[in-house]
Amino acid sequence: MDKKKYLITSALPYINGQPHLGHMVGCLLPADVYARFMRLSGADVLYVCGTDEHGTTSEVGALKAGMDVEDYCDKYHKIHQDIYKAFNLSFDYFGRTSSEQNKEITYRIYKELDKNGFIEEKTIKQIFSVDDNQFLADRYITGTCPYCGYDKARGDQCENCTKVLEPTELINARSTISGSTHLEVRETKHLFLKLTALQDDLAKWLAPKEFSWPDLVYSIAQKWLKEGLQPRCITRDLKWGFPVPKEGYENKVFYVWFDAPIGYIGITKQWSDEKPTERNWEDWWLHPENVYYAEFMGKDNVPYHTITFPATLMGTGENWTKVDYLKGMSYLTFNGGKFSKSEHRGIFADDAINEFPADYWRYWLMANAPESSDSSFNFENFASTINKDLNDVLGNFINRVLKMTVSNFGQTIPQGGEDTPEEKSLYAKIDELKADYTSYMQKLEFRKAMTTLRELWVEGNNYIARNEPWKVLKTDKEKGALILRTAINLIRLYALLMAPIMPETSQKILKLINVDEKMMWPEHCACDELTHLKAGHMFNPPELLFTKISPERVQELAIKYKEVEV
Ligand code: 2FM
Ligand code: ZN
Repeated sequence: MDKKKYLITSALPYINGQPHLGHMVGCLLPADVYARFMRLSGADVLYVCGTDEHGTTSEVGALKAGMDVEDYCDKYHKIHQDIYKAFNLSFDYFGRTSSEQNKEITYRIYKELDKNGFIEEKTIKQIFSVDDNQFLADRYITGTCPYCGYDKARGDQCENCTKVLEPTELINARSTISGSTHLEVRETKHLFLKLTALQDDLAKWLAPKEFSWPDLVYSIAQKWLKEGLQPRCITRDLKWGFPVPKEGYENKVFYVWFDAPIGYIGITKQWSDEKPTERNWEDWWLHPENVYYAEFMGKDNVPYHTITFPATLMGTGENWTKVDYLKGMSYLTFNGGKFSKSEHRGIFADDAINEFPADYWRYWLMANAPESSDSSFNFENFASTINKDLNDVLGNFINRVLKMTVSNFGQTIPQGGEDTPEEKSLYAKIDELKADYTSYMQKLEFRKAMTTLRELWVEGNNYIARNEPWKVLKTDKEKGALILRTAINLIRLYALLMAPIMPETSQKILKLINVDEKMMWPEHCACDELTHLKAGHMFNPPELLFTKISPERVQELAIKYKEVEV
């Protein structure tokens, strides 16, 4: 493994969004798995994320909660942080887009873009709410759809008939914030990023990604390029955001989508300011030659990160680190439908962690990651995966092997026996699967990686089933010892290989078999890995690692989280 630095980011969750399983698997969990895998492989990793805090939605959220927007963001930042901790997300730093550091970098980038002629001013028409004393974002205007008559259509789109609307088309338009109908069309000045002028540079930068990026991601970027890039408005008439440092823009702030991706850099600076003994943020963001940058996000975020953000960085003329690999995920649905906190439908991250250990979720989500197409969660499938894969295949193997060893030899790895063709063929099979698994993890092909991890567990079961140590022990104790010793070494190997996916279980297993070594990706051949723990090594009394989920519990959960209507 080379010693290049690996910068890893997950899309920054909106501060007022309630993270559900879809968010978890869409950007947070795969990035965490990759970060953990790369660290174990010996790479120098920095994994950062944080809350995306600016914009109308935060202002409206705070207003509804009767809170000052800064207090509101403080409160929800902590809530996000706690949930992610419970899911064992191993951020090196979890920061905020509203930080001073992000403001500093946002201004630096804006000034360079302006200096290089990539910012232009335009006057546009926008709806102003006199009673709210503010311009309204299109989606904060509600009215009756002129096409289908739906009376809660939004200014950007009618949810009922899906027609894309202009806010001025709505009948009886009113402010979503206050309900006021005292609305006027007013002219207002805004700043635009001249994406058109950056189109050629962007196309050159994107072209070589064709064979290294996932098809979905590359085709989204190309579609945008082919349609031709338009100037993009980067300011808003709002109070909550970074003030625009330009005369005549006193009541305006930068658009949330301008400072949010810059937030990856701002958050890295927050980290390096807080931990000045570690390396500087510039090592990660201004020396791309030393850094491999992998970004994780839902597919809706892809255009911003393949077009707008790279163009923003290019326009500065500075040598910023730009994305090397972009993992865009499709959506996870809740039994084919939408997660909705307000309608108490679907299982959100905070509920999830109250129902089952984080590792159950981490395993299911990675095994069912919506990589090439959408996937759907339901409790029956969840229970069946946990019961079969974790209980029957993995848990049972570990339990049987340790119990059999204890009852024949005590809590000690037994001595005796020489490798037979059985062990040799096991080593060959494990080598092959381990190489595949490692390669899928390196290529971020998570579903394939998970299938292979399960196959590794199945191989252990097959080895035991074929060699029947419970019978062998009656006639040939030495041969029985060899089988159990090999099997206990398989348990250690499984603990290491599963560590990026199920970190808690991995630790529990290592504790069980009394292994206290520095965790590293098992890169040696199986003949070494499966003879690593020697005869005489003591281990702890076996304990159950997983609990089966009963059909009654499945039914109860399906009702509780409205998977089925009652
Ligand atoms: O779609 C979202 O959830 C955005 N908050 C993602 C922002 S990612 C980055 F640009 F900050
Ligand atoms: Zn409509």
